[in-house]
Amino acid sequence: MHENTKEITELVVNAKKQAYEGKGIVPEPAFTKNIKWPVKCIVGPGLEGAIACESKVGYVNGSQGWLIYRGYDIFDLCAYSTYEEVCYLLLFGSLPSEKQLNSFKKDLIKLRSIPGTIGLLRKFPIKESNAMATLRIGTNFLRRESTYLDLPDYKPDTTSAISADEDSIPMETIPKGERHAIYEFDKSKNTKKPDNVDKNLYSPSGYDSCCRLISSVASVAAAGERLRTSQVVIKPDPELSHAANLIYMITGKRPTAVEERIMDIILILHADHGINASTFASLVVASTLSDIYFAVGSGVAALNGPLHGGANERVLSMLLEIGSPENVKDWFKKARSEKRKIMGFGHRVYKAYDPRARVLGPLAEFLVNASGSSENKKIFEIAKALENEVVINLGKDKKIFPNVDFYSGIVYSCLGFSQEMFTPLFAVSRVAGWVARIAEYLEHNRIFRPRTIYTGPLNKKYIPINKRIKKVK
Ligand code: SDX
Repeated sequence: MHENTKEITELVVNAKKQAYEGKGIVPEPAFTKNIKWPVKCIVGPGLEGAIACESKVGYVNGSQGWLIYRGYDIFDLCAYSTYEEVCYLLLFGSLPSEKQLNSFKKDLIKLRSIPGTIGLLRKFPIKESNAMATLRIGTNFLRRESTYLDLPDYKPDTTSAISADEDSIPMETIPKGERHAIYEFDKSKNTKKPDNVDKNLYSPSGYDSCCRLISSVASVAAAGERLRTSQVVIKPDPELSHAANLIYMITGKRPTAVEERIMDIILILHADHGINASTFASLVVASTLSDIYFAVGSGVAALNGPLHGGANERVLSMLLEIGSPENVKDWFKKARSEKRKIMGFGHRVYKAYDPRARVLGPLAEFLVNASGSSENKKIFEIAKALENEVVINLGKDKKIFPNVDFYSGIVYSCLGFSQEMFTPLFAVSRVAGWVARIAEYLEHNRIFRPRTIYTGPLNKKYIPINKRIKKVK
C-alpha cells in the first residue's frame, strides 16, 4: 500500500469500529440458513420480503447494517483489497492467489479497449442523450463487438438447455419447489461457437463475457463522457489499475495514489448488494435465456431510476437547492410537509446505517478538506447538517438513515467527475455483482415468473360498439 494511502486505510478501519460498536455478530438466521424449497415468506408490494433465490455471492444484514461479499466484511475488503480482487472473489467465491489475481488482471486489461463500440457510439446522438442511455446502448454495441450473437449464421444453441415439459403446466399449479430447475443446462454442451467465427469473439455467457463486461463497461462509460463533452476519447493505459485507468480515461489525468485508492474503495463499495432492483432486473432477463449483455443492459436501465442508482446525482442537486447549513431545518420541514423523498436516505433492507455511507462520509470529508475549496466545504457542511436533521427526526421511528448515495456524489465531484457521471460510475462498479449473480443463477436457472392478485372485474359481457352507451365526456 502506497505510503500516503495509510490514512485512507485508517479511515476505513475506524468506520468499521463505529459500525460494530456494541453490535452482536449475529447474522439474521432467517436469511443465512440452508434453504429447502418451497419457502414461506410474507410478501408486500414491490416483492418486499420475497425470497427470489438462494445465493453465496453476498449478504446484506439490514438490521445490523452489514454488507458481506462471499463471507468477507465490506470494511475489510475496502481496507485491504482491490476492486480487481473483489471482482475475482464475487465471480469465483474465494480470494485469488497472487498468480490467479495477476492472470485475472491481465484478462481485464486485455479487454479494456473497445474500438468497435466507440465507432458505433460516435454515430449515436450522445450529446442529446442521458448518460445511462449511452451506457445502455454501449452494452449492446459491446455485445456486437465481443460476441458472435449477431452473426447472420449464428443460431442460439438451445440444445444445451434441456427443457422439461413442466413449463407447459398452466400457471395454477402449486409450486412444488422442485430442486431441479425447469431449465437445466447440460454442462457438457456449453453454447459452442459456430465454426467460422473470429477466435476473439466470446460465447454470450461464461467467464470471457463476465470479464469483458467488468472491464469494458468502464471503457464505455468513459468514452461516453468524453464524446458527450466533445473531448478526445482516451485509450486505456495497460499500466494502470482498473480504478486509476477509469479516472484517467474520464478526466485525462493519471490520479495520485490517494485518488486511485479512494476510487478503488468506491468501486468495492458499489460492487454488489443482494438482489436490489437492478441486479434483480438483470437476473430476470438472464433467466429467460437471453444473453448476459442484454441482462447487464437491463441492469443499467433499472439503476438509472432516482429511487435507485439515480439518487446519487439528485443528492448533489438537493444540497445545492438547500444552499446553506442554516437553511436545512426549514428545507427539511417543507420537504416533510410535501411528503418528498429525501434523496440519499432510506433503504428497503437497511434499517440501520448503510455501512457504505459510513465509509463514504469520511472519504467525502477527507477529500473536501484536501481540496481546500470553500464551495466543496459548504456542500459538505450542508450534507452533515441534513444528515443530523434526518437522523434526529426519522432515524429512531422510521429507521431512515443515509444510504450509499448520500455522500458518493460529493466524493465523485472532488475526484473531478461531472454530475452526469455519478450514476454511470455506480453501474461501472455494480456490473461485477450483476455478472457474478447471473453466472451463479444460471447454474440452476429457473425463469422468474411471479404472480399478481387479480382485483379486476370478472364475467363481463361483450357489447358491440354500436350498442355501447356513449359516456358523455
Ligand atoms: C440504492 O436495494 C438496494 O440495495 C439498493 C442499493 C444498492 O446498492 O443496490 O442500496 C442502492 O438504490 C439506495 C437507495 C437510493 N434511493 C434513494 O436515496 C431515494 C430515496 N429513498 C427512498 O425512495 C426509499 O427509501 C427507497 C426507495 C430507497 C426504499 O423504499 P421502500 O423500501 O419502498 O420504502 P417506502 O418508500 O415504502 O418508505 C417507507 C416509509 C414511507 O413513509 P410512510 O408512507 O410509511 O409514512 O419511509 C418513508 C416513506 O415516505 N421514506 C422516506 C424516505 N425513504 C422512505 N421518507 C423521506 N425520505 C426518504 N428518503
